[in-house]
Amino acid sequence: MTPNPVVVITGATKGIGLALTERFAPAASQLHLVARSHEDLAALAARLKRPGLEVCTYACDLSDKDQTKRLVTALTAALEQLDVLINNAGLYLPGEVVSEPDANLEYMMRLNVFAQYYLTRGLVDRMAGHGHVFAMASVASRKMFADKPSYSITKHAQLALTDALRTELHPQGIRVTAILPGPTWSASWEGADFPTDRLLQAEHVAEMVWQVWNLPQGAVVEELVIRPQLGDLD
Ligand SMILES: NC(=O)c1ccc[n+]([C@@H]2O[C@H](COP(=O)([O-])OP(=O)(O)OC[C@H]3O[C@@H](n4cnc5c(N)ncnc54)[C@H](OP(=O)(O)O)[C@@H]3O)[C@@H](O)[C@H]2O)c1
Repeated sequence: MTPNPVVVITGATKGIGLALTERFAPAASQLHLVARSHEDLAALAARLKRPGLEVCTYACDLSDKDQTKRLVTALTAALEQLDVLINNAGLYLPGEVVSEPDANLEYMMRLNVFAQYYLTRGLVDRMAGHGHVFAMASVASRKMFADKPSYSITKHAQLALTDALRTELHPQGIRVTAILPGPTWSASWEGADFPTDRLLQAEHVAEMVWQVWNLPQGAVVEELVIRPQLGDLD
């Protein structure tokens, strides 16, 4: 592990991504932060500013293949090396498979799966020998939640992609970890009617990623499940 890592985080401005950004910021030498909102990225970069830390922001809709490819080009140009790539951006759209609009599953596949596919492939050569790829999967990567079937489909696919990446990248000295959080407090839960102590805090998840990354090279946590102590909500 590098003491002052160069880190790329997608979905860096809110929820788990924001907690990850804040967890890595004190140690990082460079943070490359991705989200759609220019304003949120600019405000975050201004807040993180400190000597010794370079913060670069990229406004990109990761559900759009062309924008994601342009992001890869920009990051490849900006990075000599990359220590940590956190594929965190993702979302849940409600609906049932038989009745939801076609666009639901298609959109979640593009953001929850294909963005990680294009971004990780594009940045592999910057990570060879030392990098660590994280995928922010979900407990829905292992369990089909009846109230979120299409989300669960995409999170199963994301986990399979992550397993494939691990098989291919471990021989190149790149560690690959899937994080499977249970329900975690974030903007996506706003308005929900249950006690907040039934959810993890985003900081819990960020701390686990930090600890996993800090294992000595030669050891890897391949998959980590973290749930609220009282379990899932259904
Ligand atoms: N919260 C949970 O209960 C939970 C549980 C298990 C797993 N997860 C997973 O954890 C990850 C983060 O979830 P979260 O709840 O923390 O999310 P969140 O609070 O909704 O934040 C999402 C982040 O991703 C960015 N984003 C959203 N759509 C994007 C797009 N099309 N292109 C680029 N950036 C985009 C958002 O910024 P902009 O809006 O500016 O783009 C924001 O920074 C997701 O992969 C989710 O599936 C969440």
